[in-house]
Amino acid sequence: MPAAGSGSRAGQCQPKQYVPIAGRPLLAHTLEALAAVPELTRVAVVLAPEDTRFEQAVPDFEGWVWRTGGATRAASVAAGLQGLRAQGALDADWVLVHDAARCLLRPQWVRALLSACRDDAVGGLLAQPIADTLKLQQEGACEQVERTVSRERMWAAQTPQMFRLGLLEDALAKAGEGVTDEASAVERLGHAPRLVRAALENFKVTLPEDFALAEALLKARKS
Ligand code: C5P
Repeated sequence: MPAAGSGSRAGQCQPKQYVPIAGRPLLAHTLEALAAVPELTRVAVVLAPEDTRFEQAVPDFEGWVWRTGGATRAASVAAGLQGLRAQGALDADWVLVHDAARCLLRPQWVRALLSACRDDAVGGLLAQPIADTLKLQQEGACEQVERTVSRERMWAAQTPQMFRLGLLEDALAKAGEGVTDEASAVERLGHAPRLVRAALENFKVTLPEDFALAEALLKARKS
């Protein structure tokens, strides 16, 4: 789980993964969902080198914690894969990468991903078909439409994304740090990751208004 971002779009005075939501830091909810999937052998969290908060935020966490995060999400994920290698993981082992900021993850979506991809040659990702009409903004600062982009066959990529360690390492090394998810790196090698439908609720907490929405949903689940 990459959790080394600064959350600059979140409008908070602390990294978004530590913002309290429904009584706990955001990333504690994410880890709780992952812990409820017994098929996962172990969870590894990749933090920023300067992170001093994790152990206090999630005192009961039993996985690996590595302060090897990089300047981009792709660099943090690559550092996590290196950590897995150092622990003895092999080319053919499955790795699931999940954004810390997707704290509404439900264990059943992870299980759906596992069962859809387990026998797949490549792997896949949770995703959601796009319902809205898509507008491409004009270049520059002005928020005006350049044109409408067809939403046919369009999906929004979510996480977890599930690939074999060897393939993912190779894909990220070749794609460089610009990629914003694992699947796009794997696609560049000519593979076709499987799309596994989750739900809109698996959104990534990103903008200031997302925190209130995430909190309302988490509270509604608990009650
Ligand atoms: O920035 P974005 O919302 O795309 O981040 C997605 C996930 O990647 C978050 O969990 C964030 O903490 C993580 N990330 C990271 N290292 C970075 C940037 C983002 O681990 N340098």
